[in-house]
Amino acid sequence: MSDISDDIKQVLYSEEYIKNTVESLASRINADYKGTEPLFVGILKGSFVFMADLIRRIDLKCSVDFMVVSSYGSGTSTTGSVMILKDLSENIEGKNVIIVEDILDSGLTLSYLINYLQVRKPNSIKICTLLDKPARRRAKVLPDYTGIVCPDEFIVGYGLDYAEKYRNLPYIGVLKPGAYA
Ligand code: IMP
Ligand code: MG
Repeated sequence: MSDISDDIKQVLYSEEYIKNTVESLASRINADYKGTEPLFVGILKGSFVFMADLIRRIDLKCSVDFMVVSSYGSGTSTTGSVMILKDLSENIEGKNVIIVEDILDSGLTLSYLINYLQVRKPNSIKICTLLDKPARRRAKVLPDYTGIVCPDEFIVGYGLDYAEKYRNLPYIGVLKPGAYA
């Protein structure tokens, strides 16, 4: 059995770099939402690590909820259809919602989700994504808070997986070609 880090070709973003990125996103949100009580909605599974770090830097009286969505198909690209496996547990009418995503890729997941949630009449919906891969965008989605604009490579770690593995890496890296089954 090899160690998990043996599968990584290159570390793109270190723990320290991610920490600084999360801090600056949180301070922008703290300033923009001052005096309000936003609801952070994490899109599982990928966002769980980012969400945990982000909200500990938020000094507002916020609440947190999660949705589990799955794009049909597996492997390293999405097919465009989205399944809601777990919906929100709170009513969002009149709320200021901040969607927390690990990575914005084709944008198909978020464009579907935003339409899906708009119907419930929140006061606002904004997007906070740790990573943005604009080269692969297929749906028009403009994130309000972007941590890192990343190259068009399949990356893992800090919540991001390949076939459910590598979410636990504390940094974000590119897999060695041999790590793909
Ligand atoms: P989109 O609908 O294509 O924007 O899908 C975004 C979702 O695809 C993310 O929440 C991730 O779960 C997944 N994803 C996209 N790019 C990567 C990647 O490079 N590594 C791991 N997961 C990715
Ligand atoms: Mg995901």
